[in-house]
Amino acid sequence: MYKITILYGAIREGRLSIRAAKALENALTNSGKATVTLIDIKDYNLPVMEKRLKFMDNPPQNLVTISNALNEADGIIFVSPEYNGSYSGALKNAVDYFTGEWAKKPIGICAASAGRLGGVNASHKLQDLVLAIGAFPMPYKLLVPELKDSLNEAGEPQNEIMAKNLDKYVNEYLWFVEAISTQKKKG
Ligand SMILES: Cc1cc2nc3c(=O)[nH]c(=O)nc-3n(C[C@H](O)[C@H](O)[C@H](O)COP(=O)(O)O)c2cc1C
Repeated sequence: MYKITILYGAIREGRLSIRAAKALENALTNSGKATVTLIDIKDYNLPVMEKRLKFMDNPPQNLVTISNALNEADGIIFVSPEYNGSYSGALKNAVDYFTGEWAKKPIGICAASAGRLGGVNASHKLQDLVLAIGAFPMPYKLLVPELKDSLNEAGEPQNEIMAKNLDKYVNEYLWFVEAISTQKKKG
């Protein structure tokens, strides 16, 4: 079983992209190959970053909890809505608190939008972000267009294309995590 941490980064009231995070949580759990920790940034009330976790003398428990979930993970997935042609500021703010947690981690990208493009602009920038933090971005991305119609509140796909894309993404992601985990075990 691989330990996967999903970092979901929208805190807007009425956010729809939580559905994408739930869809991934369900699909990975149902694969029987992963245990999933969903970190919903909204639950952690993170202030705008003024000091990175590693420089804090008495770090708050909420940051330590996220740090542990990232450290323990064999793989991480960033899930974000597209806001103004990029990913959410809340996700970036959370990412900026951490450093060594990202080292050589396989990181999958999922972007979501209300429109037809499924957050493609955000997804490209998320891949750049993954490179910047010294982790490995998976080339294949999950884009969720027309959020309201593609996934229901429980994160269940509402059409065949969404179901197929989710399934393909999870298969690709588990392959990617396994490849890097295998290499890490060799030392
Ligand atoms: C501040 C803001 C900026 C947005 N910018 C974009 C955008 O650039 N491209 C896009 O496709 N959708 C954009 N949207 C619409 C989101 O895709 C839509 O709200 C969707 O439901 C995902 O965001 P949510 O999780 O906050 O609901 C924007 C929404 C907000 C709140």
